[in-house]
Amino acid sequence: MTSQDTGTASFWHRLLDTRLTRRSALGGAAATAAAVTLPLTISEAEAVNNGGPSSVDPKTVRPQTVAPFRAIPSGNADALTLPAGFRYQVLAPWGEVFTDAGREIGFNHDYIGFFPIDLLEGGQSSTDALLTINHEYVNALFVGGDTKNRTPGQIRAEMEAMGVSVVRVRKEGGKWAIVPDPRNRRIDALTDIELTGPARGSAAVKGATMVKGTVGNCSGGQTPWGTLLTCEENVDGYTKAWAGSGYEAMHQGWVTEIDPFDPRSTPKKRTAMGRFRHENVAVTVAADGRVVGYMGDDMQDSCVYKFVSRGKYNKGDRAANLTLLEDGDLYVANFGTGSWVLLDYDRNKKLQEAKGADGKALFASQADVLADARASALAVGGTPVDRPEDIEIHPRTGEVYVALTNNSKHGNYFGQIIKFREAGDDWTAQTFLWEVFAVGGPQSGFASPDNLVFDPYGNLWMVTDNSDLSTNPIKGFHGNNAMFFFPTEGPNAGRAYRFAIGPVDAEMTGPVWSPDGKTLFVSIQHPGEDSESLDKLRSTFAAKAGTNIPRPTLVAIEGFPGWRA
Ligand code: FEO
Ligand code: CA
Ligand code: CA
Ligand code: CA
Repeated sequence: MTSQDTGTASFWHRLLDTRLTRRSALGGAAATAAAVTLPLTISEAEAVNNGGPSSVDPKTVRPQTVAPFRAIPSGNADALTLPAGFRYQVLAPWGEVFTDAGREIGFNHDYIGFFPIDLLEGGQSSTDALLTINHEYVNALFVGGDTKNRTPGQIRAEMEAMGVSVVRVRKEGGKWAIVPDPRNRRIDALTDIELTGPARGSAAVKGATMVKGTVGNCSGGQTPWGTLLTCEENVDGYTKAWAGSGYEAMHQGWVTEIDPFDPRSTPKKRTAMGRFRHENVAVTVAADGRVVGYMGDDMQDSCVYKFVSRGKYNKGDRAANLTLLEDGDLYVANFGTGSWVLLDYDRNKKLQEAKGADGKALFASQADVLADARASALAVGGTPVDRPEDIEIHPRTGEVYVALTNNSKHGNYFGQIIKFREAGDDWTAQTFLWEVFAVGGPQSGFASPDNLVFDPYGNLWMVTDNSDLSTNPIKGFHGNNAMFFFPTEGPNAGRAYRFAIGPVDAEMTGPVWSPDGKTLFVSIQHPGEDSESLDKLRSTFAAKAGTNIPRPTLVAIEGFPGWRA
């Protein structure tokens, strides 16, 4: 990329027009930031906002490491609290009808993907887009209403409230609104989905090639070719809860790829990326064109993974890109040696020799290895860490940031954020160096970091996931779950500044920026979740007029000046 590509020219257009150039160093121009050496092999196709576009080029912007707001103290109000000068709009709440067929927005919103409506033509509209919204799980008090018996009707209501909504939204006259579009679509726990990759048709998935539905849709990622990767996290509980529905746990726990631009497309489960409690995928393109995805297994004492595609990204061939995630190498991180360990049955003898407590071989094929990636990872020396949740790639340095939420088994109640840098600044490298970026607790003001998103200046925005705020006295300092801003360069690197506070019992999830940086979309998940009954509601957040039932929703936060080159 040359200097005339900077400024407000279309980042996304350049992304689609990837040239894998080498670059040297960039002098940090702002007084608050030291010069940052950029990876030599960093490509133009690297993820920004987890694959979403940005109107400025992170490699050439002046670092702006001062929070663009006056930080707020912790709070417990049943409200979305923002600093002075900021406002929000409730957009796409649970239950809103948005398709021609009368389908509704699902429950408990999580990851949000922002796909500019003109993306496939090289555009990057910040005011007209397909949003994808993950719906992670349901609360029977609010969905179906039957908290005691799961009748077939209750089960169906729950299955239809999960999965993903693809929703066209537009901003007009200063207001965001859902607009009718043939691409508006619900993919839920009943949708036909195709299995791809080594486990397709294998004994590990009971021979299946097509499966029913996607569930536990937590975080995710966007690919450079304009698809959503939705991650299936907590999928184990439904075998019992949905007995009789045909739910099959081995068909869940994968990464599912969805093309939001083609409403007739069949979503694809990518078994090459392994089966575990998938929190997220942070996608990027390495200098040699291979696609790399960093992923966390959100469970105590579980691991961090890296997927490297066999094929190479080709900007001009979307059809080929749509199959890139079918085939590749899966690695697990060993933080003790700073190395990636290959999870390949044929090439890693340890997997062939791995035995369970009963003395029997754990795996007989690569399909077995992928279908129980957690056991595979631990068998080859993957390091169990403290609930890896979201992972994001720093848009200026190429470093990989990982939120470790907490782990009560080890007394890590507050969690931390770590970061690592691949050897040679090559995302396909076999080794890396890591360090701690920020540590939760009263001294820093935050606890239980979950979703992350960068801005193009390289500042990190993080939302917390404390599920025990009203019951755990050691969390008294925290107030409701909140959103924090962290500079990653300059004298305040790693310091947390509180930007937003969620309503009672809620978690803010899935943050994503519009390409111009003027709107921050965030999900408000499970407000009032700990309510005993509809008569004793702990929250009324985003209730419909005339009712007081709280609704999970997506909100559009505004008041930001937008990115400046
Ligand atoms: Fe669904 Fe790991 O949060
Ligand atoms: Ca999460
Ligand atoms: Ca993220
Ligand atoms: Ca979480």
